[in-house]
Amino acid sequence: MEKTLVIIKPDGVKRKLMGEIIKRYENKGFNIINAKLIKADKKTVKKHYEEHKNKDFFKELVDYILEDFIFVMIIEGENAINIVRTINGHKDPLKALPGTIRGDFANSLTRNIIHASDSKESSEREIKIWF
Ligand code: PPS
Repeated sequence: MEKTLVIIKPDGVKRKLMGEIIKRYENKGFNIINAKLIKADKKTVKKHYEEHKNKDFFKELVDYILEDFIFVMIIEGENAINIVRTINGHKDPLKALPGTIRGDFANSLTRNIIHASDSKESSEREIKIWF
């Protein structure tokens, strides 16, 4: 069993996509074992995206996550880390396939609705940051 950290970003919450997104994970058989709707603080968001701190999109990304409520959850299931990322789709809307969350709903590389851990190490680190 694996755990992965998923964040529904501000545009996902504002566009009332939470139910749709959760349904896709639950339909796949995954369990949400912890979740909270919060307005994040800057320190936590910067820590979460620490690996990108020298990239030119870092400030835009952090400001965007801070602009409104986000829904943070821990999802558990077999191969949850990779399967959740497949369900989410590619971060670039030009590459995200229809049928994935980003392929169906996202039009922007920054405002791309959802985040999920990309490895076991990231999921352990991110779960500690948010929970
Ligand atoms: S990288 O550097 O593109 O290889 O990084 P990656 O691990 O794929 O994730 C980058 C996260 O930053 C968000 N983001 C952007 N990425 C690339 N370019 C631009 N302009 C950009 N703006 C924001 C991207 O959606 C990834 O967010 P998360 O939440 O990790 O999916």
